[in-house]
Order: sequence, then structure tokens, then C-alpha cells
Amino acid sequence: MYPFQIKTYEDYKRQYQKSIDTPEDFWEEIAEHFTWKKKWDKVLSWDFKKPEVKWFEGAQLNFTENCIDRHLESKGDDTAIIWEPNNPNEQNRLITYNELSIEVNQFAQILKNLGVQKGDRVCLYMGMIPELTFATLACARIGAIHSVIFGGFSAKSIKDRVLDAEAEYIITCDGSFRGAKSIPLKSVVDEAIEELDPEIFSGVKKVLVVKRTEEEVRMKAERDVWYHEEKQKVSDTIFIEAEVMEAEDPLFILYTSGSTGKPKGVVHSSAGYMVYSTYSFVNVFQYNPGDIYFCTADVGWITGHSYIIYGPLAAGATSLMFEGIPTYPDSGRFWDIVDKYKVNILYTAPTAIRSLMACDNACVERADLSSLKVLGTVGEPINDEAWQWYHTKIGKGNCPIVDTWWQTETGGIMISSLAGVTPERSTFASLPLPGVQPCLVDEHGKEVEGNNAQGNLCIKFPWPSMIRTTWGDHERCRQVYFSAYDNKYFTGDGCLRDENGLYRITGRVDDVLNVSGHRIGTAELENAINEHAIVIESAVVGYPHDIKGQGVYAYVICEKMPKDAEGARQEIISLVRDIIGPVAKPDKIQFVSGLPKTRSGKIMRRILRKVAEGEIDQLGDISTLLNPEVVEVVILGRV
Ligand code: PRX
Repeated sequence: MYPFQIKTYEDYKRQYQKSIDTPEDFWEEIAEHFTWKKKWDKVLSWDFKKPEVKWFEGAQLNFTENCIDRHLESKGDDTAIIWEPNNPNEQNRLITYNELSIEVNQFAQILKNLGVQKGDRVCLYMGMIPELTFATLACARIGAIHSVIFGGFSAKSIKDRVLDAEAEYIITCDGSFRGAKSIPLKSVVDEAIEELDPEIFSGVKKVLVVKRTEEEVRMKAERDVWYHEEKQKVSDTIFIEAEVMEAEDPLFILYTSGSTGKPKGVVHSSAGYMVYSTYSFVNVFQYNPGDIYFCTADVGWITGHSYIIYGPLAAGATSLMFEGIPTYPDSGRFWDIVDKYKVNILYTAPTAIRSLMACDNACVERADLSSLKVLGTVGEPINDEAWQWYHTKIGKGNCPIVDTWWQTETGGIMISSLAGVTPERSTFASLPLPGVQPCLVDEHGKEVEGNNAQGNLCIKFPWPSMIRTTWGDHERCRQVYFSAYDNKYFTGDGCLRDENGLYRITGRVDDVLNVSGHRIGTAELENAINEHAIVIESAVVGYPHDIKGQGVYAYVICEKMPKDAEGARQEIISLVRDIIGPVAKPDKIQFVSGLPKTRSGKIMRRILRKVAEGEIDQLGDISTLLNPEVVEVVILGRV
């Protein structure tokens, strides 16, 4: 039991009201339950116009003392991390809080020995191994700002992120195992560094390499060092002091896609992020000490940051970290893991649910899932069919499902039921967490009041873990999130509120796709496609996809229609893989002679979307187009 855990619906209503009436008092009381080096002078100051938001100003802390040190006396021998390898026959690892403390301390010393200092940016490009958690916490321990890059991203994506953050240090692995494949991470990093222009960025000073796959890698003298060798040089008994962090010092940067071509570095703070990630973890999942909690996300995404590492560890939880994929060695892997460790709380993505429900039922039936108490989903809307399957086949009708809506920018879960405590409804994220003030706005920017309403989802009051800036470009943060509506944070999502005030997220209203729960900007995709020598212009839209939620549909204009259309398609797909990564590869490519445009030259995506969706009888008025004749051609060539 946690002092700030809400146990009844009545209590939720009380807490919610309090968080609206007196937000400062509300959050101050919660913050009292954390370890601080110095308490705050002021709970909150804010101005969305700038934007500037400060929580717990004047406070000093180190988040890792809350994730590790404060647990050592009472639960040092409890398991902090269960690590399940990609191959089920390989030895797993159980890491206690005491062991975590030693590992993080050693990792922190290694980083210091390499020259990393407070405020330095460190890129992490690793597989899902315990050392990724150690590395993340070690950065936080010494005040370095980590920027984790998902292991599926390409060399070009790494280069862009290293450059944008001016990261002088990279931590990687020789390779990582994912299903039957092994991914050569270190050589991708080498490629990224080679592409960096020394004129623009003076360069990466050190690359720390953790051995995992034992594949051969190139080690550049002076620059590249092995983790296992550096570890020999540091003590496992002498502990270094955790760096003093000011409340608003950045804890990490995490890049995410937006509606422009360039991914933006979302910056999170130290104190606010700590309080909110922990508070939301304990309440949404109704975690109780001793529960085994399994979040299937990758640490490369915000879900892994907040709900594999920071939130659970600050709550002293046992967090299960899985290296592999849901379909290896077969599609029963998640359920076998639940059975093996008697998992109580399972948090996964609708895409995973949809792909697993299409697999052999025997894979589910063979596992004993009776330990499960709570199920969760994240990252994209869940359709009713998938929700029902999750509820009956996995939860056996006994487990509440928390459909958690949030974003990289929000840092923590914003709208969700609290498992078994507040009402839930299939396909609805349901109610806002205490401290979260959502509102719906119409196309004129006016707030739509009352139930049975629909609009663009905004948040009208600060919450502790909200985005503080976009790295190196504060104006972009203002422009993207705070300029659309006066005095509100705009989420980019459409939303409706039902007759009981429950919220349902209907999907992005901007040029961002959500493919298998991964956020991809259409502009980013188009830029990549346009790099191909034969391509003149392209337009990318999403279309409903049974498994991925959304699929990528690309309309491409070439200099002349390619003779070998299939060959050209494959080339474009592999180009996108190289430039962004496999997650972004187009599902369908249609070569077209023109794109429907307005008289001012803007591509009419609405029409392209309708064609991709197959709703050609709902194109609306096309007479105002510059080139209405092109629409017929686009429809005829639909793939
Ligand atoms: O469109 C919403 C969708 O995912 C977007 C955020 O993506 P990202 O920053 O990558 O973070 C994903 C993990 C938190 C949102 O703008 N989304 C996220 N959760 C849900 C969702 N859509 C519907 N229901 C959800 N539960």
C-alpha cells in the first residue's frame, strides 16, 4: 500500500476535486512521500504563453535515490528487475535492489571515468538488456541527460539525434537479439558517426560498448571502449554520491515525430517527472508490493522510460524486462512469460494484442494465466474486438483493463481508469487522473462543455511531468503545443466525451501516423521517399490496418512511370528502412502521375486518405481543386 494510492471511486472523486481546487496542496502532499536533498520553495509557477512551467522550484534531488537507495534498507533483497532473455533457454537474470545499487554505481563510475559530466548528453542505442536500465539510471545518477534511441532506428536517425543533442557519448551493444535475428547495433552506430560532419559537430568522444551477441565489431582506438573492461577498473564497494539535481534540471531527452520532417527532442524535468511517473504507476495499475509487473514496451519509447524503469523502481516494484519479441520462438511467448513468473500486471499495446489474437489459440491455452490481476494497453486506440479478446482470453473475464492514454510529451498516463477502482468501458481511456484537466475544443478554438461532446483534446492546466521544452528549440515547443489554442496544451488527438463523461481518443488530427503504436510523421516519411533518385514528389497517408491499427500508404510521382513497378517499390521501401528504420516502411505504394492539389498548391490529403481507405464515394467537393482530373486517375490506380 502506498500513502497516495486511491482505493475507491469515492476517493478518486475526492482526490480529483482536490487536485482541481487546490493543485499546489494536492501535489505538495504527494511530493512529501519522496526523498529530497532539499525541499521546494514553491510548488508551481506557470505561463503557457512562453511556455514556462516549473514544479517544485528550489527543490534538490536525485531521482535514482528514489529508485534505489531509499529501498535498500527495507527491500534490498527484493527483486527489482526480472530479465527474460530473447531465447527462453538462455539463463534469465533476477536483479535485487541491492544488486541494482551496485550495478548503477559501477556504471556511473565508468561514465565519470570516461569524462561524462552533469548536463552532458549521452545517447543510448541498445537492446533490451539489464545494462540498458543500469545505463539509464547511471546517467541520471551523475546528472547526465540520457537520450535513448530505439534499437530499430537507422544510422541516419541516430546521426540526427546525436547531432541535435550534441551528444558526445554513446552507449551501445555489439548487437541485440530480436527473435531469430541479431541486429548489429555497434556497426550501425559506426555508420552514424561516420556520417557526422566534423565541421558541424566536433564529434563523439567515447562509445561504450556492452557485449551481448559476441559478434565481431570494429573498435576504434581511443574512442571505443568495452564495458566489461571498464567495469574491471571500478569499485563495487565504494559508492559515489548522487549528483545534486535542481527540480527543473533536465532528466532526459526523448525524440519523437511530429508533423514536420524533423523529430523533436522532448525534454523532461527531474522533480515533476519523478512525482508524476510514480504517482500514476501506483494508481493506474493499483500496484501492491510483491506484485510482478510486466510492461512489454521497449525502453526506447516513453512507455519504457516511465513504466519499465522510473515509475516502477521508484515504487519499489518488481519490473519484468523482456529482451525479445511476442512471436519468438512462437506466438505464445508473452503468455509463457506470464506463466513462468506468475505475472500479476500485464501492460502491452493493442497491436500486439491484435497480432496475437490472430494466432493459434493453443498458444494461449497452454499457459496458466491465473496470476493476472490487471491488464493494460497503451499507444493507440484499441478496437472493441481486441479489447474483448484481451478481456476474456487473457483476463478470463476477471481482470480490469486500463486503457491508458498519454504521450511522449505528457511523460505519464493522463487519461485512464484506475484498475478496478474507477469505471472502465471498452475502447474508452475513461477518466483523467487527478491533476489532469482535459478539455475538448471545437474548430474555432472554443471549449465544448458538457457530456456527449467531441473535439480536439487539450489540457488546460499544468501537470508535473509535462514537456518543458524541445531540445535546442524552445520556439518549436511553443509553436507545436501551445500556439493552436490560447492558454492550453494541444495534444494533436481528437477525442469524444460520452454521456457519463468518459473520454475516448479517436486518433491523431494532425499529419502524424500511428503505426503499430509507433508515431511517424508523414512529412518525415515523404522526405525519406523523396530521396530516391526517380521520385519527384510523394504524399503519405494512413489507412486502417487490421493488425497495425494504421498502415502507411504512399502516393509517389516519378520522373516517368517505372517500368518495373515492383522493383521500384522494393527500392523505396528499403530506402525508408535505411533512412528512418523498419517501423516506418510503407505498406502500399501507388505510383501516380499527379496529386490532387488546392489552387495554392497544397496537397489535398483528405482526398488521398479517402481513396486509401477505399471510401471513394465520400470524396466531397473536388471542383475547387487545381487539377480535379487527377482524382479519377488516383482512384483507378488504387493498390
Ligand atoms: O494518438 C495518441 C496515441 O499515441 C500518441 C502518443 O504517441 P507516443 O508519444 O509515441 O506515446 C505512446 C505511448 C504513450 C497519442 O497522441 N495513443 C496513446 N495512447 C493511446 C493512444 N490513442 C488511443 N488510446 C490510447 N490509450
